[in-house]
Amino acid sequence: MYEILWRYREEIVSADLTSFSALHLCEAPGAFISSLNHFLHEYRQTLRHEWLASTLNPWHESNRSGTMLSDDHVITATYRNWIFGPDDSGNLLRSSTMNAIESRAGVGRVTCVTADGSIDCSACPEQQEHVTAPLHFSELLLALRVLDQGGSLILKLFTIFEHVTVNSLLLARVSFHRLIVCKPVASKAGNSEVFQLQKTKNEELNYSAGLPYWAEFPRFESICVRYSHNIH
Ligand SMILES: C[S@@+](CC[C@H](N)C(=O)[O-])C[C@H]1O[C@@H](n2cnc3c(N)ncnc32)[C@H](O)[C@@H]1O
Repeated sequence: MYEILWRYREEIVSADLTSFSALHLCEAPGAFISSLNHFLHEYRQTLRHEWLASTLNPWHESNRSGTMLSDDHVITATYRNWIFGPDDSGNLLRSSTMNAIESRAGVGRVTCVTADGSIDCSACPEQQEHVTAPLHFSELLLALRVLDQGGSLILKLFTIFEHVTVNSLLLARVSFHRLIVCKPVASKAGNSEVFQLQKTKNEELNYSAGLPYWAEFPRFESICVRYSHNIH
């Protein structure tokens, strides 16, 4: 994360900012928070840094232990900054969690969203892109709602072979003015993760018409397929 922040610092922290509001999705144990905090202290000490975060709640009994990382020391020390939604699960695949994050972060109020969602696919590595697609889609939708017009989204993806990912990239492409896909040097070569940096929301698009969630995914896909047929 630090490598991305430093490399794209002028994109992420524009010169006119006086405060920097971050939302970290799928964030336990919390290294992206520490990374951004360190970066802002090094790069722009005068900026007021505020942050919120969300993730699967490691203490919630409905969350399977294999889906979470067991390190909770950042959450414990900064509990008031974390949003787990009305059922306390923190599950971003539930619309109630998405709505809770949206109302606490505020529509159009966030400078930077980081989204690092992943699910353990060691038992089915060939399914990783497909299994994580609804989570990445939820992260993208939520970012589109809460980011301000000059905001950035740093979104982790894995491989880009399946139409679900291509469709999400299409949505990102029409929603942001700039889209960068990068593989940081510090990211293990054997890990298929890549990061998208998306800069500045497209002001012509209106995201205020109610927040869909991942159950809308099939409908979104069919719209994308129709759209891509039209532009080819
Ligand atoms: C790679 S880790 C994030 C690491 C974090 N960015 C850091 O640097 O410390 C992926 C996170 O996604 C979370 N996650 C997986 N499925 C989720 C879901 N349905 N809702 C919310 N978070 C989820 C996991 O609990 C895990 O904390």
